[in-house]
Amino acid sequence: MYLTREEEALLDGEKGPTLQKAMELLTALGDIYGADSLVPIKSAQIAGVSYKTIGDAGLEWISDLKGKVVVPSILNPAGMDLERWHEMGVDEEFAANQTKIIEAYQRLGIRCECTCTPYHIDTSLASFGDHLAWSESSAVSYANSVIGARTNREGGPSALAAALIGKTANYGYHLDENRAPVITVQVDCQLSGADYGALGYLVGAQVGSDIPMFRLQSRPTNTELKALGAAMAASGAVALYHVVGVTPESGSYQAPDETITIERSQLDEVFGKDRGHHVDLAALGCPHYSLEELELAAELLEGVRVEKEVWIYTSRQVRDASPDAVRRIEASGAKVFVDTCMVVSPATDRFGYVLTDSGKALKYIPGMCGVGSGLASIRECLKGRNSD
Ligand code: F3S
Repeated sequence: MYLTREEEALLDGEKGPTLQKAMELLTALGDIYGADSLVPIKSAQIAGVSYKTIGDAGLEWISDLKGKVVVPSILNPAGMDLERWHEMGVDEEFAANQTKIIEAYQRLGIRCECTCTPYHIDTSLASFGDHLAWSESSAVSYANSVIGARTNREGGPSALAAALIGKTANYGYHLDENRAPVITVQVDCQLSGADYGALGYLVGAQVGSDIPMFRLQSRPTNTELKALGAAMAASGAVALYHVVGVTPESGSYQAPDETITIERSQLDEVFGKDRGHHVDLAALGCPHYSLEELELAAELLEGVRVEKEVWIYTSRQVRDASPDAVRRIEASGAKVFVDTCMVVSPATDRFGYVLTDSGKALKYIPGMCGVGSGLASIRECLKGRNSD
């Protein structure tokens, strides 16, 4: 891989061991994947924040790093709401360790707005054609597919290395030749809301890491595209998809001949998996809810008293942008938590069965939290039952 004189100096340790380690990581990745050079990035989004997922080893590793990031960098959700963790039932020891992780990232100059939807809070982080180093898989999918920016599915350490250097290795989705669709997905029914999560759940499992191109009968909103991409990144490893006539790069490609078809009955099977199962927690906001989703939840909960625990996750900025929606939601007995989510927080682990409106959470909750999960529309989730 070609390195400039300045990059060589960083690799030789002339600017200290942290930047040397960061360069070693980026050049190792570049060598493995055949990158020709490093490419400057606009922003970084760094996963590996929850103490539940990185533990003491991760905390130690981050705490040892010195220096400052050189591009806008933002964290993925942590293991708790940084202010209301008591209400989530998170214990003191976990909270203390989680706080140390956040402080270690802060010392590196990283914005500790812990969210997997950075595009909801700061549109300057990613625009069409920008190179990025983002690591949370749904954020990667949204950046590549809906915004038309370019990022690989970075690991937490490689995103952090890229943030410190301001560049990443130029391979994979950074290159035009790796962004073409390889399979067409024909959807033979109208879709809305949580249908997109169910569709992503099915398609991800079938296409793995291939790039699908969708032919849809309905026109999805960006919220629905967010849900589709998140689910495909969880049940498969899809980091980029196109939707004919909708996503920004779809017009550059023909739909591939190889085709899979999805029918209504297949989506109904995903929703019907555990129909009638007792629900302990309804968890919404995977990926983190946007302002529109929060306001919809507030509208649906108007005058209602929830019967089950209903927890809605969003970013701090979205919550603060709509205090009225938060007040209306919480008047029903539901709670709005920020900085965290149902998958990366240990708080979910004590519930027996979780109902969600997210195809990604449906997939991850059993493995990451050790509890059962079912998929339902936002309306059914807010009622605390899956009887759609
Ligand atoms: Fe975000 Fe957590 Fe889902 S990080 S995409 S809300 S699993």
